[in-house]
Amino acid sequence: MKTLLVVSGGDAPGINNVIGRYLALAANGDTVIGADGGFPGLLSGQLVPLTADMLIPWMGRGGSILASSRDPVLNQQEAADRIRTVLSENNVDNILLFGGNGTLRHIPPLLKEWGIPCIGLPTTIDNDVPGTEMTLGFDSACNFAYHAIDGAQATAHALRGRIFLVETLGGTCGNLALAVAHGAGAHAVILPEYPYDDAWLAGRITHALETYGYAMVVICEGARGARTLMDDIPKWTGTRVRDIRLGHAQRGGVASHRDRVLAADMAQAAYTALKGGTQMGIACVAGGKLSVHEGVLENIAPTPPDPSLYNRINGLI
Ligand code: F6P
Repeated sequence: MKTLLVVSGGDAPGINNVIGRYLALAANGDTVIGADGGFPGLLSGQLVPLTADMLIPWMGRGGSILASSRDPVLNQQEAADRIRTVLSENNVDNILLFGGNGTLRHIPPLLKEWGIPCIGLPTTIDNDVPGTEMTLGFDSACNFAYHAIDGAQATAHALRGRIFLVETLGGTCGNLALAVAHGAGAHAVILPEYPYDDAWLAGRITHALETYGYAMVVICEGARGARTLMDDIPKWTGTRVRDIRLGHAQRGGVASHRDRVLAADMAQAAYTALKGGTQMGIACVAGGKLSVHEGVLENIAPTPPDPSLYNRINGLI
């Protein structure tokens, strides 16, 4: 069996672990190659050989040894012919696809239509892929945020009266910010999915300053206020805001224990499915267990961040 690995969209901690574990499984007679630069790389024939030993220094490191791309090249008219030609010229049997919500919604249906066998792996720090409880990289991104917040809380204890505004990645999906706020004990969390009232937020911050000696607000980068609260909060409270933007450092952090285990399970499930002849599937976690869901992810409505948790963190219940 010859498998082509393609990373598409935002990278995530743990991708290198999946690649390394997949290569180890394939080392007894199968061949694995990678597309350098996602689907644009694949369409232009930029394929690189991969061997099990190559990944040893990369295990646990964020990013991806295989460069990714966000360019939607598969929408081009000639894409189907081009991809078939490259795959057949290189004797590729199937594709192992790494990607987030955008990738997994759009690309597996195209590959299915074009008769190209593929297993998709939900890999994104955003944890926003409908159909799976857990995406690879989410746990690591939470841990990255905790390191930053722990540092802020240490200095918050030493120098009282500070307001910290911690901005996570996540785009327009608040799952990451909500999980971080929950785990870190933030005094307020602001998400793109839920509107909030400025006066309420001012009161919440003032209450935290008076009660705990500091205030910790976690905000998702795509939420209202992500660019203005730095200026607004001091006007409301009379206290300057200390801004902590985790940015892309959060996406490129070290893979956590949980993500390394998930990566190992993803590699095993994908290898078994491809070896067994599965034509199309997505590796999903349900009830805490990973398995390959046959077919593409269709008609699964996205679930918003847990409203009861949001209300609890924000003292709204
Ligand atoms: O891959 C998901 C993600 O990291 C989001 O959390 C974030 O909003 C976005 O990608 C950033 O995209 P880019 O790397 O293109 O700036």
